[in-house]
Amino acid sequence: MSADPKIKVAVCGALGRMGSASCSAVQADEALELVAAVDVGFGAGAAPLLGDGKDFSDLETALTVTGVDVVVDFTIPASVKANILACLNHHVAVVVGTTGLTGADLAEIDKVTEREATPVLVAPNFAMGAVLMMEFAKQAARYFQACEIIELHHDKKLDAPSGTSRLTRVRVEESWSETGVDKEVPIHSVRLPGLVAHQEVVFGGLGETLTIRHDSLSRDSFMPGVVLAVKRVRSLQGLVVGLENIL
Ligand SMILES: NC(=O)c1ccc[n+]([C@@H]2O[C@H](COP(=O)([O-])OP(=O)(O)OC[C@H]3O[C@@H](n4cnc5c(N)ncnc54)[C@H](O)[C@@H]3O)[C@@H](O)[C@H]2O)c1
Repeated sequence: MSADPKIKVAVCGALGRMGSASCSAVQADEALELVAAVDVGFGAGAAPLLGDGKDFSDLETALTVTGVDVVVDFTIPASVKANILACLNHHVAVVVGTTGLTGADLAEIDKVTEREATPVLVAPNFAMGAVLMMEFAKQAARYFQACEIIELHHDKKLDAPSGTSRLTRVRVEESWSETGVDKEVPIHSVRLPGLVAHQEVVFGGLGETLTIRHDSLSRDSFMPGVVLAVKRVRSLQGLVVGLENIL
């Protein structure tokens, strides 16, 4: 009996911190094949990463020539929407880790995923502990009517507040609305060298507080989630937001 064919993966933003970690994770998985590394940096003189004509400075060309099954995007907030739409145009499923997509962006992407019958998974955080932090925060919100989020990241992060904090806020506010509480969760952003990705969700009640904290100490923490998403994304329908939907 022949083994399943490998899933052909392209990583967009391949020269970046998350993109290069994703390239290594894809290469280390027997069920996946890294067919393209895409980064604007290749057009600006960066040395090839994969060689053999597999390094591309623009996504459109990679989509046209590589026969890719899934694109992983870890680029920048200013280019992620255009990258997703280019993939959908080629009927290629997308795993999106780049943060900074607005609600309006997601609504537009949702419509195109339906029109092109091609799925997109957007996960503001691929770390298992972060998914659990959001789940626990949702549970705690049933019992605490006051909550604030402190998110702390390295100083090169381009967007604030973080995508994880914004999704956590949505989860807490959803939980509150089920019990008739109509309030907003404030988010505080800290950017400092030395940090990776950290978040505290702090609930306050009568004479007590509850703090749920998650720390990503290295980018390895995101890779099992990225690999799982690559393997599962093509079985999804439309736009799906949050890693918890494929666990
Ligand atoms: N979802 C998660 O779990 C998670 C975890 C960490 C970071 N992030 C997010 O991932 C994104 C990337 O983070 P990073 O630290 O790797 O950033 P980075 O700056 O190290 O890398 C971004 C890379 O994208 C490239 N790039 C920019 N525009 C491009 C385009 N149009 N086409 C191809 N390549 C392009 C850049 O040249 C760069 O190499 C950020 O939005 C960050 O917030 C998400």
